Amino acid sequence: MQPTVIAPSILSADFARLGEEVDNVLAAGAEWVHFDVMDNHYVPNLTIGPLVCEALRKHGVTAPIDVHLMVQPVDRIVPDFAKAGASVISFHPEASAHVHRTIQLIKSLGCQAGLVLNPATPVDVLDYVLEDLDLVLLMSVNPGFGGQSFIPSALDKLKRVRGMIDRSGKSIRLEIDGGVKPDNIGEIAAAGADTFVAGSAIFGQRDYADVIDRMKGAVAA
Ligand code: DX5
Ligand code: ZN
Repeated sequence: MQPTVIAPSILSADFARLGEEVDNVLAAGAEWVHFDVMDNHYVPNLTIGPLVCEALRKHGVTAPIDVHLMVQPVDRIVPDFAKAGASVISFHPEASAHVHRTIQLIKSLGCQAGLVLNPATPVDVLDYVLEDLDLVLLMSVNPGFGGQSFIPSALDKLKRVRGMIDRSGKSIRLEIDGGVKPDNIGEIAAAGADTFVAGSAIFGQRDYADVIDRMKGAVAA
């Protein structure tokens, strides 16, 4: 199990003040910045691209930027994110014609590679690539929007993937994304997650430090 990481999803931030919002969540105790990229093709929403990632780096953000690609195709945008300062790049296997190739591409550009499983994606997609990954991201909502409710079957899936990671003996992070709140993060952690994305639960509160503290307290309990 890796040390706990809280990764606020900037999808729920005030985009007109994005640099300040990111500074504030990091000062409030978040370790990573979760960066949701949507293309109105693979998912029914449109967000931000490499220019915004680069702008955050120029603004002075040094924390890891955790890029969650919800785009199809994947490969041609990966080098742009690597250049823009992404730390981790995760993608959905359904959006790549050659999953193994995309993982190698991400790593060849000096980034960490993650694979994202939608709520209905079986865990056996990990069978031949798990050991090449730095991170597995389980979706606990259908991708496309913030503020949805946690899908409970994600808990059983977390336990299964936790077992696969432990058996591999590799230091692979297990990240969860969607509907994570202070009142359910304890059972999500107990099911095996070590990296927690939260958008609306953090940016929907006035006091970011208070909500991040409550989340970390529940994970440690
Ligand atoms: C959904 C995104 C999530 C989203 C999470 O497609 O991948 O990162 O921002 O938002 P909350 O935490 O509000 O469910
Ligand atoms: Zn995400």
